[in-house]
Amino acid sequence: MKKKIIKKNKNLWGGRFSEKPSELMVKINASISFDKKLYEKDILASKVHAQMLSNQNIITKHEENKIIKALDQIQKEIKNNKMKFKNEMEDIHTHIENRLIELVGSIGKKLHTARSRNDQVATDVKLWVREENQIIDNLLKELQKSLIIKAEKNIFSIMPGFTHLQVAQPITLAHHLLAYVNMFGRDRLNIHDLIKRHNYSPLGSAALAGTTFNINREQTASNLGFYSPMNNSLDAVSDRDFILDTLNLSCSIFIHLSRLAEEIILWSSSGFNFINLPEKFSTGSSIMPQKRNPDAAELIRAKSGRVLGNYVALFNVMKALPLAYSKDMQEDKEPLFDSIETTKTALKVMSGMIDEISFNQDNMLNFCNEGHITATDFADWLVENIKLPFRDAHNITGKIVALADKRNKQIHELTIQDYKSIDKRINKEIFKKITLEASVNSRKSLGGTSPENIKKELVFAKEKWLDE
Ligand code: ARG
Repeated sequence: MKKKIIKKNKNLWGGRFSEKPSELMVKINASISFDKKLYEKDILASKVHAQMLSNQNIITKHEENKIIKALDQIQKEIKNNKMKFKNEMEDIHTHIENRLIELVGSIGKKLHTARSRNDQVATDVKLWVREENQIIDNLLKELQKSLIIKAEKNIFSIMPGFTHLQVAQPITLAHHLLAYVNMFGRDRLNIHDLIKRHNYSPLGSAALAGTTFNINREQTASNLGFYSPMNNSLDAVSDRDFILDTLNLSCSIFIHLSRLAEEIILWSSSGFNFINLPEKFSTGSSIMPQKRNPDAAELIRAKSGRVLGNYVALFNVMKALPLAYSKDMQEDKEPLFDSIETTKTALKVMSGMIDEISFNQDNMLNFCNEGHITATDFADWLVENIKLPFRDAHNITGKIVALADKRNKQIHELTIQDYKSIDKRINKEIFKKITLEASVNSRKSLGGTSPENIKKELVFAKEKWLDE
């Protein structure tokens, strides 16, 4: 009878094992295909940990130097695609540690003193997320800049404002664009707060309960740019709120992006024809030669679903997980990496589109020629000039709208006799009030659409968001 050959388990944790894991176990366990993204952060945190170990006389200065030199070499190897990644070695932390041991022998084996992969991974991801959130903040700022530049050119451009997607009142295009500057501004404030709220270090919490070694967590925290260490080791290794908050933030950014994308799609459709889509950000049809489709905007609209899915996915992973670390948490990375990448791309595409879009002023003005767009101004005139209570003014204007509809006209196309047939007190002055220009110019209330307001709003927006 043949003797069964049992292959040894060569994992860093393989001491108590006598058998190799099954291929399927290797497959489901491995995260290296995606967490290799974290290599720079892993190496940085390891160097800081090694320095601290030597400062605390847990390893010698000589050992620290050897470890740091080898880590620098490993960083170069990974950067130059020299490292071979294998599922058998699970994740980026194990790959780096194994290579370190290959390079400096048993000195390398000391790096994991007073540390676990649990605090290690939490630290690495936190460092990575902080940097990515800063990048996203900058991309949001770029998008705000694109919108502000377009708004500055369109302070006096009149367009229809909608409610229920029905023509409502005239507004200025700059006003509309600045609404998005505010939305993306709130996303930025959210990021600034998020970064501060989570800027505390898990490193040194070890597996879950802390460590018996006399480590200096303040030192590692401060060397990694954290305000201070997290003060509960159980929380530190099992907290993924900083990822959930980031995924939630992507959802908010995408709510705003998708609304703008939807407007770009509507505005470029033949019914509206408010904008010309930049060729750089649209596509043709393989059968209909005349087409220019808003694919970039449609994809941004669609990707909001994907980003929301990522948030929901991790939310469900984290829900009801007992303390402290569970391998479930390895599932935090793919949704996170995907949402960050998707958000960055969408923000860049949206800025590019806004920079290149041109507006068809004439079509926007023509569109104002329906829906009795200045009916509210008509009613306001009755309040101001005949001192009617607003409800009565509303009622009279409603009758005028009905009369205009009957004649297939807009209210401003009726004659003074038509108006007088409904209320004798109306005089010719009304015509000055119900032009598009008069309508927007007179909306001077705080936050209103008048060019006078918008000019001030632009100065404020540039100061607040573009540090100008
Ligand atoms: N790859 C793991 C993750 O991303 C690292 C932590 C592993 N910890 C453990 N106790 N097995 O979550």
